[in-house]
This record gives sequence, structure tokens and C-alpha cells, in this order.
Amino acid sequence: MEKTTKRSNKATMSKTHENDSRLEEFFHDELKDIYWAEKHLVKTLPKMAKAATAQDLKTAITDHLEVTKGHVTRLEQVFESLNQKPQAKKCEAMEGITKEGESIIEDTEDGTSTRDVGIILACQKVEHYEIATYGGLAQLAKTLGYEDAAGILTKTLAEEKEADKGLTELAENTVNEQAHAE
Ligand SMILES: [Fe+2]
Repeated sequence: MEKTTKRSNKATMSKTHENDSRLEEFFHDELKDIYWAEKHLVKTLPKMAKAATAQDLKTAITDHLEVTKGHVTRLEQVFESLNQKPQAKKCEAMEGITKEGESIIEDTEDGTSTRDVGIILACQKVEHYEIATYGGLAQLAKTLGYEDAAGILTKTLAEEKEADKGLTELAENTVNEQAHAE
């Protein structure tokens, strides 16, 4: 009887172990995905800032570019805390969202608030993707017992939320009305 219990405990433990490594692998893959996405944003945000007309919007994007560079560094710290080398894996979703942003720029006239509305929309899609990712990854890090990684990911999550809020305010307070009037 005792033997059976021991055996089944062992079986449960190895099953848990197996699930853990599967979950770990998934976690690492998702980190590579967002690492690629953040690095990609460092390249694309300047184009967005350049295409914007309202000075407040240009500033918001340029400020977020600096914050984004910090997110790249933070992800490197996360990899380091897991004893992993930082690795990027192409994020198809982020590539799609930024391509959509580029086509919004192509489809709208230079110097118009309508283009600014489009840029805000595109940037908010980026932020929402990041909020979903960092929220999920911070939770997953906690589940896996990676407290340091969870703390770092939570800091970035807060900054993405703040950027999103800033863009909403910009749309509500000025840009949408200006576009509506032009
Ligand atoms: Fe970010």
C-alpha cells in the first residue's frame, strides 16, 4: 500500500516537473517574442514621431521611445535573472501592428490632425498588445517562482499603461477635436 502511494507520488512529481519545463519553455519563448517587439519599436517609433504633426504627440512618442529603450534593457535583465542569454524571436503580431501604423501614415495627408488621430490609434494598439503581454508574463513569472523577473515585468507593465493613458488623454483633449474640425 505504502509502495503504491510512493510510486504515485513519484509519478505526480515527474508529471509536475514535465509540466513545469513545458511552461518554462513557453515563458522563455514569449520573452523572446516581446524582446523582438521592443527592439522593433525602437526602430519604428521615430518614424511615427516624425510623421506626427501635433507637438504634444511628437513629444509623447519621443518620450516613449526612451522608455522603450529601457524596456529592452529590462528584458535583458529578465533573461539574465533566468541565467539565459537575451534572444529575440520575430513577433508577427507586432510586425503587423506597426505595418498597419505605416499604412495609416501612407493613407493620410501630411500635416493633418486626421493623421495624428491615426497615429494615436496605431500607438494604442501597440500599447495594448504590450499590456496584454507584460500582464500575462508577470503573472507567469510569479507562477514559476521567478520573483525578480516578475518585479521587472510589472514595472514595464505600469509604464505601458501610463503611455496608453497619455495617448487617450491626448486624443480626448485635443487631437480628435482638431481632426473633427479640419
Ligand atoms: Fe514597451
